[in-house]
Amino acid sequence: MNLVIHDLSEEEWSKVASKYEGWKVISDNGTIKPCIGCFGCWVKSPGECVIKDGYDQMGALIHHADEVLVISKYTYGGLSSFVKNIFDRSIGWVSPYFEVYEGEMHHKKRYPEDKPMSFIFRGAGLTEEERAKARGYVEAACRNFHAKIKSITFEELETMAQVGTQEVSETMEAGRLVMLNCSLRADNANSKKFMKRILPLLETEAEIVNLSSYLAHPEKLVELLLSAEKIVLGMPLYVDGVPSAPLRIMELLEKSGKAAGKKIYVVANMGLYESKQICHLLSIVKTWCEACGSEYCGGLAIGAGEMLKMMMRSENIDKGPSKNMAEGTKRIAAAINEGQAIEDIYADPFKFSRKMYIFCANASWPLDAKKNGLKKKDLFKQL
Ligand SMILES: Cc1cc2nc3c(=O)[nH]c(=O)nc-3n(C[C@H](O)[C@H](O)[C@H](O)COP(=O)(O)O)c2cc1C
Repeated sequence: MNLVIHDLSEEEWSKVASKYEGWKVISDNGTIKPCIGCFGCWVKSPGECVIKDGYDQMGALIHHADEVLVISKYTYGGLSSFVKNIFDRSIGWVSPYFEVYEGEMHHKKRYPEDKPMSFIFRGAGLTEEERAKARGYVEAACRNFHAKIKSITFEELETMAQVGTQEVSETMEAGRLVMLNCSLRADNANSKKFMKRILPLLETEAEIVNLSSYLAHPEKLVELLLSAEKIVLGMPLYVDGVPSAPLRIMELLEKSGKAAGKKIYVVANMGLYESKQICHLLSIVKTWCEACGSEYCGGLAIGAGEMLKMMMRSENIDKGPSKNMAEGTKRIAAAINEGQAIEDIYADPFKFSRKMYIFCANASWPLDAKKNGLKKKDLFKQL
């Protein structure tokens, strides 16, 4: 069985469908839900997603496919929100356990294969720089998934709907700041915990808004964000990029044609150790800013977020493993106050080795499984 994952409209698909006769096709039927970051596909029902919407078997489908083809609209140097959602919902394909792979911290495989994957990015007038961004993203995601890249190609689409020039929204209030918690873990999100440490350092009134409250009414969130001049996006790293839920909001903001003139800051955190792995997420936000006519003002990339979140309860985060992150928090808060752009800040844990982090993280998975009535061996389940 071959597997094709695509975001084509019905009309576009009808023109190419005959090429993929006999393939298993994953496309947008309008029912897909975004990943809620629960790790259920690792510690509740290993290998399969807990959201039963017809897209819950992605890990097993990829495993059983001889090869996988991904067709996506070129979106800010990465995948479109639908295809990215499929990637986010596929992490059960790998095991929760960590190892050092190609010099970086990554997950171990659940299945033995090196799955061949091909990618077709569709876009109008894609420059060599834009193509390089997409290649860079795919290489990172495939390293993370232990997939083997068979090919990355670009399809020139002259007829693709071009988004017109961007205007400043008439509802935008000078100085208005919105902090958006993009994690669907909502109040339990690490993203929110990190943003809460920035809040008291800010000179402007701000509240942290949960994206999860707007899933049924994304247009209301778009309206709220259009009224802000400064936006802080608090994001987890999902499959080396922006999670599908905030990516969808970013697409809608661009489509509104009114997202110009804003100052955008990012506070991103991740489960793996090396904060450098957040570079593609930051690049995607930066490219989105360019598409919208807004200013990318810098990001704080926090490595080992799943450990550092535990330190956010402490009065003093300036000492110990959170020291670099605490310094980054002060620098980004000062930039937000001044409305200045800064270089991206990469904050790895301070004086806490990667080896120790991997040891502690690997020890935590059987404990999580036990809470769900599973045994350690269940974590290795293959479907
Ligand atoms: C679907 C999914 C994909 C993820 N992909 C990555 C990844 O590529 N690299 C990484 O370091 N962590 C990854 N993580 C881990 C999250 O970034 C990490 O758990 C983060 O602390 C969650 O932040 P939050 O509580 O704000 O959602 C992933 C988590 C999920 C649920």
